[in-house]
Amino acid sequence: MAASDSPWSARQTSVSAAPGLGKSLGMTSMIIPYEDGPLVVRGDFELRTPDGARIDPGRGTVALCRCGKSAIKPFCDGTHRLVGFRAGTGRDTPAPRVESSPGRESSAA
Ligand code: FES
Repeated sequence: MAASDSPWSARQTSVSAAPGLGKSLGMTSMIIPYEDGPLVVRGDFELRTPDGARIDPGRGTVALCRCGKSAIKPFCDGTHRLVGFRAGTGRDTPAPRVESSPGRESSAA
């Protein structure tokens, strides 16, 4: 795939449309769901396997696959376009709420 065909490089421009936004909000990282595409992560972050091993992102901003079809998971390789993956850019449904009981910590997944 040519660099100009990459959904990643084309959409990275959109991420840069608001430079410094995360820092102005006091955040150290931002995760941005792209329409019909990956989750773009930028800022200070670490990628780790479930057992804690560090995954080298190779760059400061990464696109994480959310279609499940990438050959280089957890990173996006652009396959989402080939498989017709569809997803919105924001929350389509309300956040799950977990009722907490007195004396018991709640956790939402
Ligand atoms: S989101 Fe891009 S390959 Fe899965």
